[in-house]
Amino acid sequence: MKNQIVNLLSQNIEVLTSEEISQLIEIPPKPEMGDFAFPCFRLAKSYHKAPPMIAQDLKESIGDQTFLSEIKVVGGYLNFYVDKAQYAQQIIDKYNNATDYGCSDQGKDKTICIDYSSPNVAKNFHVGHLRTTIIGNSLYKIFSKLGYKVVRINHLGDWGTQFGKLIVAYKKWGSREAVEEKGIEELMDIYVKFHEEAEKDDSLNDEARAWFLKMEQGDEEALEIWQWFRDISLKEFMRVYNILGMEFDSFAGESFYRDKTADVIKRLTDDGLLKESQGAMIVPLDEYDMPPCIVAKKDGSSIYATRDLAAILYRKATYNFDRCLYVTGLEQKLHFAQVFKVIELMGNDYAKNLVHIPYGLVSLKSGKISSRKGNVIFAEDLLRESINKTTSIIEEKNPDIPDKEEVAKQVGIGAIIFNDLYNQRIKDVIFDWNKLLNFDGETGPYVQYTYARASSVLRKIGEVPDTIDYTLLTDEASIGLLKEIERYPQVIKDAAERYEPSVIARYSIDLAHAFNKFYHECQINVEDETTKYTRTNVVKIARYIIKDALSLLGIQCPEQM
Ligand code: ARG
Repeated sequence: MKNQIVNLLSQNIEVLTSEEISQLIEIPPKPEMGDFAFPCFRLAKSYHKAPPMIAQDLKESIGDQTFLSEIKVVGGYLNFYVDKAQYAQQIIDKYNNATDYGCSDQGKDKTICIDYSSPNVAKNFHVGHLRTTIIGNSLYKIFSKLGYKVVRINHLGDWGTQFGKLIVAYKKWGSREAVEEKGIEELMDIYVKFHEEAEKDDSLNDEARAWFLKMEQGDEEALEIWQWFRDISLKEFMRVYNILGMEFDSFAGESFYRDKTADVIKRLTDDGLLKESQGAMIVPLDEYDMPPCIVAKKDGSSIYATRDLAAILYRKATYNFDRCLYVTGLEQKLHFAQVFKVIELMGNDYAKNLVHIPYGLVSLKSGKISSRKGNVIFAEDLLRESINKTTSIIEEKNPDIPDKEEVAKQVGIGAIIFNDLYNQRIKDVIFDWNKLLNFDGETGPYVQYTYARASSVLRKIGEVPDTIDYTLLTDEASIGLLKEIERYPQVIKDAAERYEPSVIARYSIDLAHAFNKFYHECQINVEDETTKYTRTNVVKIARYIIKDALSLLGIQCPEQM
């Protein structure tokens, strides 16, 4: 019905496009104020009239419409009251006719690369990496839903001077057994030891640089140790991805570009963009108010930025992406601005399609989070702790449900993911166990619980014929729920446009609230069959959408909890 209102308005307003009108339309906070409202304030300038007069004129030119029971002018607003039975029928028909509700062909024949997660080899997969993993995975789901082909790229941090340091440290203080036994933890320990010792003896740094240079030049021994550290790290990272149920299309990390950086340097040289500065090679960017982008160090070895430049050229050639997104912490903003600028200066028009998607920090507020090592938090430990806590809650609340372990896993992980995605990504995330595991709060478990409730209704009723009397859906709670259902396709588009999974997380809470209100106010399993089936059909649709919305966040829904 919103579309019909948009059409009516756009026939009567020349100065706004239908898209603009659609964005202006609001859903009034109270049903007495109408089902949809159009604010006329923006028109005042073009029409040289006061908004209430514009509203009155519009009301007159729109006239009577069968699908509207009333149009009222209130202040500068035009409030529309729809014929509720007709409205209910439209939404349900639309839902039933769509083969996959909320899908779209917006992204047909378009490719998006998303570079996310990308932990650093020989370092722990920490809570910051958990954020990029969760946000990136959700963006992957959202864009896939809109018909894009999405390439999930894990740009592992598996190359760089730090491996020179690690090799030195391993040779001096490490042992094969300790690394085999303790994995990343041991690699982190010897890395710390390296820094302590290098404080006292700077020649260690020279040794480290020499080893990294050897790696870049293909030295067998250096590469063998490096490969081993990489394998060990990847095995630990895979455990986290398995718990989260997440996959990637490519693990081409920094090391993948080691034989492609020479070409970047050559192209930059040919384009006349490179300058020598204190022995290093740089692309000056002062014209753009940025420090220079360093692409080669004194000894000729590559750096992070060089490998990112190579990665962009490679991805464009390989995937011919329409957009390439980078999900990392805000602290890498300058890095990406520099790299994207250099790509632009190389004459690549597609530089404008490279997008950095930053996010805020994670802070651990209340409740201790068990940590293997001092204050270093491993993502894996956090996930396991959430699952354990959820297990105890379920033991207490509902010990008889089937498949308890799987349910605890889905809910425990769902809680972490939801907590991460509920606020705008740029905001910091706070870990507060009491809050994120609260089954009645604005949490993942709350939405999952609502889904389980809907499933339980359907289990009790059994087969649902499509007997629907739309006049039975005109009460506030039913209309409220139908409005949320109607909103879903637009919500997905908004989330994609702003790269904001929080739009979907917030929506899922609104939808769950609307469903619970409907559930409490409209008794479903009643004697009268028409009423019963009419309402059950609404439950069916709402249940489907709750599950679908959560799946776009990367959260699963147990049938019982
Ligand atoms: N490994 C980096 C880190 O942990 C993130 C990599 C992001 N992707 C990129 N193409 N630079 O901070």
